[in-house]
Amino acid sequence: MGQPQPAFYIFKCQQSSPPGMPKPSCVRPDTRDHFQYLAQKLMEKGIIATVQPIQTSCLGRCNLGPILLVEPGHYMYVAVDKPAIDRIIEEHIINGNPVEELLIREEFWDKPIQPLDMMKQMGRA
Ligand code: FES
Repeated sequence: MGQPQPAFYIFKCQQSSPPGMPKPSCVRPDTRDHFQYLAQKLMEKGIIATVQPIQTSCLGRCNLGPILLVEPGHYMYVAVDKPAIDRIIEEHIINGNPVEELLIREEFWDKPIQPLDMMKQMGRA
């Protein structure tokens, strides 16, 4: 038997904009330790080997941040704080029930456009 794949990846936006930038960022003084908190909680549960936390740059929904994306499934969580991280781990990651009230609203997260369809729209395929 080979080395197992992770069951989940949790992408945590770690973008921090300089003060005065018009674009908001997910990492502010009050959210600076959220990635560490996430990783620590996964370690405490003993599941970090199969649930891989990943630090990313901007995920494109800055106005709704802090943002956290769970894969597989394209589950994007918004306005994430520490209690939200606890719930996402417990309810979604461990028990398989995405936390509906913390997910991004559909108007901001419509179905993806497949690359081939985008190329056709642009006249490149
Ligand atoms: S800064 Fe986090 S989504 Fe853009």
